[in-house]
Amino acid sequence: MKKIILFADTGIDDAIALTYALKHPEVNLLGVVSGYGNIDREKAIRNVEYLLELAGRTDIPVIAGAARPLNGEDPVYFPEIHGSEGLGPIDPPIAEERFANRTNFSKLFQLIKEHRKEVILVNVGRCTSLAIAHYLSPEVMQDVKATFVMGGAFNEPGNATEVAEANFYGDPIAANYICQSAANLTIIPLNVTRDAILTPRQVNLIDARSDSALEEIIKPILDFYFEAYQQLEPGIPGTPMHDLAALMAALDISGLFEYKKREVIVEHQGTAAYGESIADFRPASSNCFGPQCSRIALNLNKDIFVANVIEILTNHR
Ligand code: RIB
Ligand code: CA
Repeated sequence: MKKIILFADTGIDDAIALTYALKHPEVNLLGVVSGYGNIDREKAIRNVEYLLELAGRTDIPVIAGAARPLNGEDPVYFPEIHGSEGLGPIDPPIAEERFANRTNFSKLFQLIKEHRKEVILVNVGRCTSLAIAHYLSPEVMQDVKATFVMGGAFNEPGNATEVAEANFYGDPIAANYICQSAANLTIIPLNVTRDAILTPRQVNLIDARSDSALEEIIKPILDFYFEAYQQLEPGIPGTPMHDLAALMAALDISGLFEYKKREVIVEHQGTAAYGESIADFRPASSNCFGPQCSRIALNLNKDIFVANVIEILTNHR
């Protein structure tokens, strides 16, 4: 069993990653840290509560993450991609007292201490909450087994700007800190998650086999996401499952990714390259092995990805 804590900014691809984690027989989801990003922090918490309720898993703790980036600026949200509520056409019917004014960040440290050296952190939103955890308690964070981050774009265009991916762009100070400081770090960047595509046909197949309230939201939210992506990248054959790809990396699925180890810097000085992730992939460069080196995914095997996703999302667990 993989013991996972998911850090998310629960929009649509985050929701699919969470759904996959809940349905995977080898994942023990210990908790979800939900912060600002695609939507505001409160909506992100509410969406996780909603998905856990649909799954009958309200026993899983939802921890309130950060509400803004480390530079203190107001976040920019993405309703045009994820919908005003973060889950496309769905307005989750969750009472405000279940998600507002939550202050339970210490629950994160409690979980890591209870499962010492076993917990895998998977960060699929801005890196703010994860960086704050490191700032607050570097000692406890040494007890984390491994960290996986969806973010950055190497040697390809970004999605937030010409050069920057949205998670790193949303808080490049935090992203740079995590890339430089988190031990046993794996980065699944945008140039790789762009290939983690589910086509409408595959989504229809998953929908045809759905038999639970949680599974029934997959198609409506991915249909919304598909329409949004047609505006962003006209002609794209499906929806890129950025966050799901990062979660799957944590499961060591044979043949899904190839990796190289490099030191990563995230530009955070307010230049035109703000939010850009930089690593040395020149032909003469080689793997690095020091504490500041991250494992970076280079590519994704599309056949293995699709087969695995359909298998897990259609199992009747
Ligand atoms: O760049 C893709 C990432 O930005 C994903 O995590 C998506 O959910 C958004 O947060
Ligand atoms: Ca996300």
